[in-house]
Amino acid sequence: MSFESVEKEVRDRVVPDPAEVADLESVVADLTDRAEAAVADLPVNADVLLVGSTARGTWLVGDRDVDLFVRFPTDLAREELERYGLEVGHAVLPEGHEEFAEHPYVKGEYRGFDVDCVPCYAVEDATEIRSAVDRTPFHTDYLEGRIEPLADDVRLAKAFLSGIGAYGSDLRTKGFSGFLTELLVLEYGGFREFVEAVADWQPPVRFDPEDHGQESFSDPLVVIDPTDPERNVAAVCSARNVGRVVHYARELLADPRVELFEPRDPDPMSAEAVREAVAARETTPVAVRFETPDVVEDQLYPQLEKSLAGVEGALERAGFDPLRSAAFADETAVLFVECAVAELPAVERHRGPPVGVREHAEGFFESYADAGDAVGPFVDDEGHYVVERPRDARTPGELVEAKLFDVSLGPHVESALEADREVLVGEAIGKLADEFGSELAAYFDPRP
Ligand code: UTP
Ligand code: MN
Repeated sequence: MSFESVEKEVRDRVVPDPAEVADLESVVADLTDRAEAAVADLPVNADVLLVGSTARGTWLVGDRDVDLFVRFPTDLAREELERYGLEVGHAVLPEGHEEFAEHPYVKGEYRGFDVDCVPCYAVEDATEIRSAVDRTPFHTDYLEGRIEPLADDVRLAKAFLSGIGAYGSDLRTKGFSGFLTELLVLEYGGFREFVEAVADWQPPVRFDPEDHGQESFSDPLVVIDPTDPERNVAAVCSARNVGRVVHYARELLADPRVELFEPRDPDPMSAEAVREAVAARETTPVAVRFETPDVVEDQLYPQLEKSLAGVEGALERAGFDPLRSAAFADETAVLFVECAVAELPAVERHRGPPVGVREHAEGFFESYADAGDAVGPFVDDEGHYVVERPRDARTPGELVEAKLFDVSLGPHVESALEADREVLVGEAIGKLADEFGSELAAYFDPRP
C-alpha cells in the first residue's frame, strides 16, 4: 500500500463526518448557554470558552470530549473560584460528579458527550498562571488561525500515536499530548512531513517555535511552550515513547499500513501458556498481587512504578539479577519481576573493613569471631576482613516476602499490601492469566 492510500483510509476513519461536527457544535452551543446563564447568577463576572481539540477541530471520530472552561477574574480568592466553578459545573451538568485536578471541577455526560467544566483564572499572560489549567486558553489562542489547514493531518498524527500506544499525557501512558501533537505537525507542516522527520530524530530533540531562547530542560523531547518559555510541552513524554515513535515512523515509511494506526490487542494467554513460557525461558518470575488502591490513574501508575522499582532494586542488590519487570492493574494490581537467578547459595560473602583500620577492624573481627554460624573472618586479597555468613533469602520469593516493606513503596500501594497480598513465584504466575492474560501476552511477546 502507498503512504497516500494509507493516509486516505485512516482519514476516512478518523475525520468526523458533517453530522458529527454539527452535533458537536449544537452541544457546545447548548453547554455554553447553560454555563453563561449560571455565571449570570453569580456575584462575579466570568467568561465561558471552549478549549482542547473540539475547539480546534482536531478531535478524532467518536472521541467525544468537550473541555469547557469558565474563566474568572484574577482578584477572586482561590476558594471562591473553586466554589463558583463547582456551582457553574453542577448547573451545566446536573448529573455530573466532582473530580480533582489542580482545582476541583465537574465532569459529566451531556447528549452523549463527555464534558469537563473547569474553572480557571483569566491571567494576562501564560507566564503568570496560578495553576496549569490557566495556561490552556492560551494554547487555544495560539493555535487559532494556524492549525485549521492542518486539522486532518493532526488527526492522522493522533491516530498514529494512539495506534502505537504513545498518545496521551496521562501518567500511565507518558506519551504525546494533543497540544504537543499539534505543535509538531505545525512545525513540520503536515503528517507525512512529521513522520519523515521523526524517522531521523536523534534524542534529545528540541524545538522552540516562538524562539523564546535557551531554557534548559533535560528531557528526551523538548518543545518549549510557545505561550510560556518556562514550560516544556513534552515534559511527561518518556524516552521509551520517543524511541518507539522513531521506530514506528521508520516502519510506516518502509511498509505503509493501516494496522500501525490500530492499537495492538494481543489474544490473552491462558494459564497453561504462561506456565509454558516461564518453563521455556527458565527464569524465575516473582509477582506480588494485591487489591488495587482506590485512587485515580494519575496517582496509581506512578505509585506502581515507584513500588516496582523498589522491589526490583531489592532483588538486584540481593543478587537475583532481574531481567525485566512490569506492573499490571485492574481489580487487583501486580508488581512483576522476572529474575535470571532462581536460587543463591546458603552462604553469602560479607566484606568488612581493611585490617589496618584498627578500631573498625577489631570491632568487625570480634563481632563475627564468636558468631558460630559464619565462616571466618579471614583476610582477602586486598587486606580486608571477610566472612561468609548464612544468606537471609536464597530465592526471589523469600527475598520479596522478607524485604517488601523495607523498599520504598507508593503510599497507597503500601497500605494495600499491608491489608493483603499474595506472592507468586515461577510457574505459579500462571494464576495471573485470568485477569491479566493480555498483559502477559504482551509481556512474553514484546514489540517496540
Ligand atoms: P485534552 O487532554 O483533552 O487534549 O486537554 P486535547 O488537546 O483536547 O486532545 P484530545 O483530542 O482530546 O486527545 C485539553 C487541553 O488542556 C491542555 C491543552 O491545552 C489541551 O488542548 N493540556 C492538557 C495541557 O496543556 N497539557 C496536558 O498534559 C493536557
Ligand atoms: Mn480534549
